[in-house]
Amino acid sequence: MTILALETSCDESAAAILRGDNHPPTLLASLISSQIDLHRAYGGVVPEIASRNHALRLHPLVEQTLAAAGLRIDQIDAFAATRGPGLASSLLVGHTMAKALALASGKPFLSVNHMEGHLLSPFLDSNSPPPPHLALIVSGGHTLLIHVRGIGDYSVVGRSIDDAAGEAFDKVARLLGLPYPGGPEIERLAPHGDPTAFPFPRSTPGDFDFSFSGLKTAVLYTLQKLDDPTRHTADLAASFQAAVIDVLCSRTLAAAREMGVNLVSLSGGVSCNKALRNALQAACADAALDFRPCPPTLSTDNAAMIVFAAWLHLRQGHRSLLTEDIDPNLLLVPAS
Ligand code: KG4
Ligand code: ZN
Repeated sequence: MTILALETSCDESAAAILRGDNHPPTLLASLISSQIDLHRAYGGVVPEIASRNHALRLHPLVEQTLAAAGLRIDQIDAFAATRGPGLASSLLVGHTMAKALALASGKPFLSVNHMEGHLLSPFLDSNSPPPPHLALIVSGGHTLLIHVRGIGDYSVVGRSIDDAAGEAFDKVARLLGLPYPGGPEIERLAPHGDPTAFPFPRSTPGDFDFSFSGLKTAVLYTLQKLDDPTRHTADLAASFQAAVIDVLCSRTLAAAREMGVNLVSLSGGVSCNKALRNALQAACADAALDFRPCPPTLSTDNAAMIVFAAWLHLRQGHRSLLTEDIDPNLLLVPAS
């Protein structure tokens, strides 16, 4: 089965083609046309600019992805696209285009949850389906601890009760006068600073939940008290990053113990962060847990993770109707 998927949930236009009948499938092509430069001037994503650029870029991107895979459109067996969560006007562009391709070709269509794409991304190159485990997903919009029992069989063990981890990186970077997106900027500066310079709070709300808005406020109050904040940017970045990583690792390990799993996975844009990957790897090793991070190329938004999630579902016989609508607030686990 050869599948083409589109991802347009935010500011990356992405397309990917995957082929295979058994694990691991072969990723034939995965292209991303990033709009980060267009949005940087505004300090964040501007929805109308994002959707208009998806509309401009998607058709050539599909042509380029087919060319990179060495395929014609009639050699695609199924089409998939991100249904949500994300920006409504952006989601509509990719989702509608994939439905149109399925309609014109009479091939199946599958609507994919973006968070499930992140969740499954560490297993794209694995020889077997994702095993039962605990998944930490850290992106710009979500921080989730998920108990994975099988494909589509998930329960939420913990989540951020306010800002997502990536959102906290972006907001703190903005406070420090760093450009958007802030995560990579903070990671770049952190090694030049002292992670113990500022004892920022490690907030641990109930159960296995997370809270990052108090940490962001603590950075703001600290900045306001400093005579020359620019002299402390690296120390602030290092101390903030250390606080985020501490909480992510300690909660994940505590949840893994409680769930009795022997594998922890890590995915989402913030999982690009090498300090986080190393810290969680070390914490898992100490606790005799296997650790499976997604490859850095699949951390931030991409269509490879969407096409892989689609592949796993399509082989189980799942299909979506062409009347399926996008859902900007789509949950990974429907509220009961
Ligand atoms: O998964 P993603 O590409 O988009 C969403 O689905 O939200 O995640 C984007 C987030 C942004 O908040 C960005 O600042 C953060 O991932 N990020 C990082 C790093 N690279 C991207 N955060 C920390 N360190 C990084 N190296
Ligand atoms: Zn994402």
